[in-house]
Amino acid sequence: MSASEDAGSYSAVSFRLTALLQLSPTLYSSDMSQPTVFITGAAAGIGRATALTFAAAGYHVGAYDIDETGLASLAKEIAAKGSTSTTGILDVTDTAQFTERLKEFDEAAGGRLDVLINNAGILIAGQFAEQAIETHRKQFDINVGGVLNGLLEAFPDLKKTRGAQVVNLCSASAIYGQPELATYGATKFAVRGLTEALDLEWHKHDIAVKAMWPLFVQTAMTKGIQTGTTGSLGIKLTAQDVADAIFKSTQPAKRIYHKVHFPVGLPSKALSMGSRFSPVWLTREVNRRLSHS
Ligand SMILES: NC(=O)c1ccc[n+]([C@@H]2O[C@H](COP(=O)([O-])OP(=O)(O)OC[C@H]3O[C@@H](n4cnc5c(N)ncnc54)[C@H](O)[C@@H]3O)[C@@H](O)[C@H]2O)c1
Repeated sequence: MSASEDAGSYSAVSFRLTALLQLSPTLYSSDMSQPTVFITGAAAGIGRATALTFAAAGYHVGAYDIDETGLASLAKEIAAKGSTSTTGILDVTDTAQFTERLKEFDEAAGGRLDVLINNAGILIAGQFAEQAIETHRKQFDINVGGVLNGLLEAFPDLKKTRGAQVVNLCSASAIYGQPELATYGATKFAVRGLTEALDLEWHKHDIAVKAMWPLFVQTAMTKGIQTGTTGSLGIKLTAQDVADAIFKSTQPAKRIYHKVHFPVGLPSKALSMGSRFSPVWLTREVNRRLSHS
């Protein structure tokens, strides 16, 4: 082979390799001793802030989303800070894709899954009767179906990792049903139930399952949303506030009791405490007033 033929075939291989790398998920191997976290809906909002927070703390981050551009910029940001990540396209409603992404993550992360964060979710606000059934179902498909997929598909990896944890993104709208967010809130009641049950059921496998309960957070999800409750309580929390709370919930803490629910922010703490100790009629009255119903 002549030098020019050699150079030609080299550049063809290199081009093919580059093309392959662009199509494939970004894979950077973690070293075996590095803790790992797998986050859905990681390209934006709370998921993105959480990915960066865990990366800064030395975790190998698995970041997954349907937003390819957001993932690419996240991977660059993590790498620029000297941390490692594995990214890939994942629609949480697609079980086969979940299996595939977890397999890739398992290979890149040295076979351990310390923390699974079921974060991907959507919210569609409005009067219940004015929304089509497809709109209601879509929220269940992603917010509940996606969490079911995550829990089922990741279970074998969680089980083989000592002290593994799952963090599910619940919401203060699962403290008491919220007008104009009825279906969204109902999906979060389902996430609450799954969290409580599996935290008990998987205790024997050394897997803890937790729920984060933020009130409204300043992300794309709440942009332009105006409900009675957003009017009364405002949208005050930042994605970083929630990311910090998620990270803290996964770290060892001196507690005399086992904690499953983590309200984020003072109003969420007050509402969740209030609903536990006040009679149901009073909780309803507080929610009626807050939501201007
Ligand atoms: N923003 C809030 O006020 C708030 C409050 C409480 C709880 N939460 C919960 O926090 C989580 C994150 O919300 P956020 O505010 O960061 O929202 P966001 O809209 O800013 O980000 C959500 C991310 O999920 C991704 N996503 C959407 N559908 C997906 C799918 N099918 N598969 C994979 N990824 C998908 C989006 O591309 C996006 O990157 C959600 O579960 C939400 O319900 C949000």
